[in-house]
Amino acid sequence: MKYNSIGNSIGTVLGKSLGSFLRSSKVRDISRDSLLKMDPEIAHQTTIAALRLGFVPTHSSVDSEKLKTEICGLELKNPIGMAAGFDKNAQVSAALGEIGFGFCEVGTITPNSQSGNEKPRLFRLLKQEAIINRMGFNNEGHEIAYQRLKKLSTSHKASNIIGVNIGANKDSDDFVLDYVRGVQRFADVADYLTMNISSPNTKGLRDLQSNEALKRLLGETLAQRARAKIFVPIFLKISPDLDEKELDEIAKLVLQSDLDGLIISNTTISRNMIENEENSNEAGGLSGKPLFNLSTQKLAQMRQRVGVDLPIIGVGGIHSAKSAIAKLNAGANVIQLYSALVYEGMDLLDEIKAGLVKEVNRTGAENVSDLVGTQVDDWASGKGEV
Ligand SMILES: Cc1cc2nc3c(=O)[nH]c(=O)nc-3n(C[C@H](O)[C@H](O)[C@H](O)COP(=O)(O)O)c2cc1C
Repeated sequence: MKYNSIGNSIGTVLGKSLGSFLRSSKVRDISRDSLLKMDPEIAHQTTIAALRLGFVPTHSSVDSEKLKTEICGLELKNPIGMAAGFDKNAQVSAALGEIGFGFCEVGTITPNSQSGNEKPRLFRLLKQEAIINRMGFNNEGHEIAYQRLKKLSTSHKASNIIGVNIGANKDSDDFVLDYVRGVQRFADVADYLTMNISSPNTKGLRDLQSNEALKRLLGETLAQRARAKIFVPIFLKISPDLDEKELDEIAKLVLQSDLDGLIISNTTISRNMIENEENSNEAGGLSGKPLFNLSTQKLAQMRQRVGVDLPIIGVGGIHSAKSAIAKLNAGANVIQLYSALVYEGMDLLDEIKAGLVKEVNRTGAENVSDLVGTQVDDWASGKGEV
């Protein structure tokens, strides 16, 4: 039984019995159920506070060799990452590594701190296991997150792969410049960077996905990386609401550039895939189970366009081992999730890992990377479904 940071000393004092008590599935069920009864934003803050204090026990089991994989030269103990938006201010990435995530993406972080949209801005759609958020990049800004990551890089970083997701302040005069500043600020502490140009909650941000704007964004951020002389892989995170022509244009620009990979996808503004229930009419980005088919189809359609070599991180609606496998089959090299953890708790991570190992064995493959891209055409044409 291990505890991180402050929890370490608490763990030593209170001993193994508290450890096994906290680890028991009953206690986990109780804590997950009570979190689901709280206001969603308070539940999130409580979870972050618990992780910061080290109260969440870690899993001591070693990942199977079959789950070890690689993306952009980064060696991962498993292909499952925490998606952006959970650890917005880079406070708990070490704890997430200890819990068993293969990597963690912090942010979105903007140059200056900002408070985000008015509350309430985070909603659960309980029946459909979905979330709608219109947080609006609430975060403490570059400097504070940088200091935290700098400190971490001298201690935990060797075992934790940390991506930094960068964005633009809503009152910025020049969005592109905010991304250039993000590359400049985080190049020496991030294992990879993600340019998030697909949040629906900052007015005008998603326009950066259109041709001329994207050309300028890629040109200026990649030039900044070259000037910094620190090689850090850069990903672009795109929306699931792009049509096929927009995917064509993005694929073309990406392949002409030195960009390292794509993250597909962010939340959707579409409501076609959900039924009416409490909160289903709230404005913002929809995530969780109902996003799965749309985001996986867009991922496969992009995989068809960029070919087999460009790294893609697949995210959107993963809620089970089966859906994690489907995301890989549709063309994702590695995956991320967030919303389903709210409904299923952190045990879902172990369930997905076990399911991936089982699938590797069932298919006679050697490693999880052998599951990647085996059903791209089916998913791209809309035949795939989970
Ligand atoms: C509450 C919340 C906040 C989010 N904040 C961010 C963010 O700051 N930056 C970002 O790139 N994505 C953000 N996302 C999107 C997730 O990273 C992910 O792309 C999306 O939720 C789909 O995955 P999921 O269905 O597994 O949640 C957020 C999602 C949620 C639910």
